[in-house]
Amino acid sequence: MDGKKTAELSELEKECLSCQKCKLCPGRHNVVFGVGVSDAEVMFIGEGPGEQEDIKGEPFVGKAGILLDKMLTAVDLDRKRNIYIANIVKCRPPHNRDPLPEEQDCCIPWLRRQFAIIRPKIVVCLGRIAAAKIIKPDIKITAEHGKLFKKGGVIMMPVLHPAALLRNPSSKPAAFEDFLRLQEIIKEECEQTYG
Ligand code: URA
Repeated sequence: MDGKKTAELSELEKECLSCQKCKLCPGRHNVVFGVGVSDAEVMFIGEGPGEQEDIKGEPFVGKAGILLDKMLTAVDLDRKRNIYIANIVKCRPPHNRDPLPEEQDCCIPWLRRQFAIIRPKIVVCLGRIAAAKIIKPDIKITAEHGKLFKKGGVIMMPVLHPAALLRNPSSKPAAFEDFLRLQEIIKEECEQTYG
């Protein structure tokens, strides 16, 4: 891991942990900043913490997270080894509702600063909310998951949200195809991820 990036991320996390910028902060148990390696070439972005994430302070540790980890393992990715995972909003929206546009706008500067430190080559957006915020507002996730977009020299791929796969298991094969495609892109574009 890159020592300078690790130190910068940990400074940023300290700052973020005391954030009071939006209405989500009074209801939180933990700010869910992000997890992974500071010089990851591949960054995954979800929408916001759920109940388990709020309790544990780590993204994707509930049922959807367990499925995500399985899919990551299948393509040799691992939050402890070669990727970084964060969310659009860092605090849990009540009753797991979608984060409101104003909450997203309020929180996105943290993600931008994480991105500026990590400087990933590939961004994978988990679900419609993240893809709409990061890739394009009118994304149609059912039709466009697995497609590649390029923004500012960064490759971006929207994929189906693991929580949606738990609700609709018939989409799992298509989601797995996207991960296999992702693996190929990583092999072409990244030097360290599978190094
Ligand atoms: N869903 C998300 O989008 N993010 C999490 O961290 C957990 C579930």
